[in-house]
Amino acid sequence: MDIKQLVSQMTLEEKCSLLSGADFWRTRPVERLGIPAFMVSDGPHGLRKQAEGGDHLGINDSIKAVCLPTASAAAASFDRDLCRQIGEAVGDACQHEKLAVNLGPAINIKRSPLCGRNFEYYSEDPYLAGELATAHTKGLQSRNVGVSVKHFAANSQENRRMSTSAEVDERTLREIYFPAFEKVVRDGKAWTVMCSYNRINGVYSSENPWLLKTVLRDEWGFDGYVVSDWGAVNDRVKGVSAGLDLEMPSSGGSNDRRVMEAVKAGTLDEKDVDACVENILRIHTRYLENAKPETVWDLDAQHELAGKLAAECMVLLKNEDRVLPLKETEKVAVIGKFAAVPRFQGGGSSHINCFRITSLMDELKDCSGVTYAQGYDTADEQPDETLIAEALRVAAEADKAVIVAGLPDSFESEGYDRTHLRMPLCQTELIRRVAEVNPNTIVVLYNGSPVEMPWLPLVKAVVEGYLGGQAVGTATANILYGKVNPCGRLPETLPVKLEDTPCFLSYEGEGDTGVYNEGIFVGYRYYDKKKTDVLFPFGYGLSYTKFEYSNLRLSSKEIRDTDILTVSVDVTNAGSVKGKEVVQLYVGDIESSVFRPVRELKEFGKIELEPGETKTVTFEIGKRAFAYWNTRLHDWHVETGDFRIEICSDSRTVLLSETVRVESTVQVPAHYTVNSIMADLIANPKAMEILRPIMQGGLFGSGENSGDSDAAGEAISDEMAKAMMMNMPLRSIASFSGGALTYDMIQKMVDQINNG
Ligand code: BGC
Repeated sequence: MDIKQLVSQMTLEEKCSLLSGADFWRTRPVERLGIPAFMVSDGPHGLRKQAEGGDHLGINDSIKAVCLPTASAAAASFDRDLCRQIGEAVGDACQHEKLAVNLGPAINIKRSPLCGRNFEYYSEDPYLAGELATAHTKGLQSRNVGVSVKHFAANSQENRRMSTSAEVDERTLREIYFPAFEKVVRDGKAWTVMCSYNRINGVYSSENPWLLKTVLRDEWGFDGYVVSDWGAVNDRVKGVSAGLDLEMPSSGGSNDRRVMEAVKAGTLDEKDVDACVENILRIHTRYLENAKPETVWDLDAQHELAGKLAAECMVLLKNEDRVLPLKETEKVAVIGKFAAVPRFQGGGSSHINCFRITSLMDELKDCSGVTYAQGYDTADEQPDETLIAEALRVAAEADKAVIVAGLPDSFESEGYDRTHLRMPLCQTELIRRVAEVNPNTIVVLYNGSPVEMPWLPLVKAVVEGYLGGQAVGTATANILYGKVNPCGRLPETLPVKLEDTPCFLSYEGEGDTGVYNEGIFVGYRYYDKKKTDVLFPFGYGLSYTKFEYSNLRLSSKEIRDTDILTVSVDVTNAGSVKGKEVVQLYVGDIESSVFRPVRELKEFGKIELEPGETKTVTFEIGKRAFAYWNTRLHDWHVETGDFRIEICSDSRTVLLSETVRVESTVQVPAHYTVNSIMADLIANPKAMEILRPIMQGGLFGSGENSGDSDAAGEAISDEMAKAMMMNMPLRSIASFSGGALTYDMIQKMVDQINNG
């Protein structure tokens, strides 16, 4: 279909009518031209299609569907293929249900573990989030349904999410908050992007031309449409010229009228309206031309898939005395309400109306040797002595006690943030008391974001299950009994306590202003730089087998920043059971003129190994793996120097390391002023050439204490004289030259240096 031609046939009124929804989920049709209404729906780990009674808060019912592992869990798989499968499953459901776009994946960076919506987001690490979200996107879009990657950008909190201004510097946006979006747009070719509610540096994302046009379209080549988060529009007219194509939900026509009036009054260019309409129609036509409502949406098959995938997401955090896996001959006490009624998804717009839910006890109820006690209630935080007594009784009689605990719904949800990282008292008390009567206590956690674990030393094993979707019980049973070897890795750092977290001092800001003071030091980038003790580091996870690494090789010891470096490493399964390993490659800049993290994840891969088997894993990394965002170039830049290439089992455990020297091919233009200090100039040989006459003129002396007078020697050491000289701005030379040098002469030299 020739979209431009179609748009040229529309009246202004028709065009404006397409700029916002008809209702909560549908766009308007233009019957005269045969343009139908299109429907979108929430996701992203399942389908939330509201046949009737629309709302964006998950209040009204939606059709029965399948809840796959949420992003919190999916990220822990460190498995692109798994995320692709989630995307495909949701894509099939969308095709079946005639939905053009599924509103996800949600890929905001986990700035603080307090964010109520972290269960929907992937990681504190932009590379991991970008890779997994891109896989999800490719999977979903392979079914000819669009994603809506959200929430662009810097939507790091739920409280005041619609009014707060995220005050973030350019480098931090580029290095932390943008890359996942960039990846999904550039490589995933996302059909649509959803702008965030919040403002960034004072400007609403829904009317930010730098965000929606310069960065998204001009730099990243986005060719889809931008949709507002539901109700994110502040000034629709500004939004149209800034590149916000579609407003959702319906504004009841009032904003469309405003846009029309602005065009008529000459304050808005009709071309901007045309561009929005073209973007929307281009994407919806892509869906329409490939619509396959006959697509089979096999709920049973997807339920099975949900269980299989959830097991691959679980992270074994502790396994003392190899208390896991359980043996079928052992007497096991299963304790906890979540073992019978699991928590496997979060509240709000992503809430799925599940056609079936499988709990751990559904899986184990027929196993002889397994007993069950509820242990706690989710409705009350206070310990219930009757429930605890029953739990202690079954625990004392068993070889091992498995407590299924975590966060109840009320503790984390879209719409508000947590204020602490604690689990309910009734659960922590239960764990403590059960561990007293059973030395083989195992804790399984169902939670969307990190919790403090004061009970950790008391228990033998911990499995972090995150929010694993509706078949989480099957997955848990398979992990506990070793039918699946745990292979998840933490996609976020688990801090010891809230006060240790990177933005503890400023999270959520003051009023409607939230300053991102921690800058690029988010997640492990912060903890590792500060050497702060953590509960478990980013990337951490155990297995029932063990892996050995050897033979790290680089294709070269010296490259230019335009080259690709090939990194290979051999991994061996040195244990006795089959298992999957996540191989993690980090890069660290050894010396840099800007603040940089100790190391950053730049590649990862998941491999499966039979006992005794060795595989070679090969990665290719390019400029971006070494670069930081240079705010003077407004571009990625690699400083010439040595970099560490590290193969790690988590962000702070280096297994193998090599060094590569990277030569920059980009000259950062000099930009000295008369206020530049000597230390900065000395680093530049060209500058020193121009300044040599001054230096030789002895204006600074030799930099060495002459030693003539003892008194002077005591007052001014050589180090001090040197330091003072280094910290002097050029202009001060004029003051010290006794008139030999003027300010103008210095300015001339500066110009000469700058002009090369
Ligand atoms: C959420 C989005 C969601 C939309 C529609 C908003 O409140 O932030 O993630 O897609 O509602 O339900």
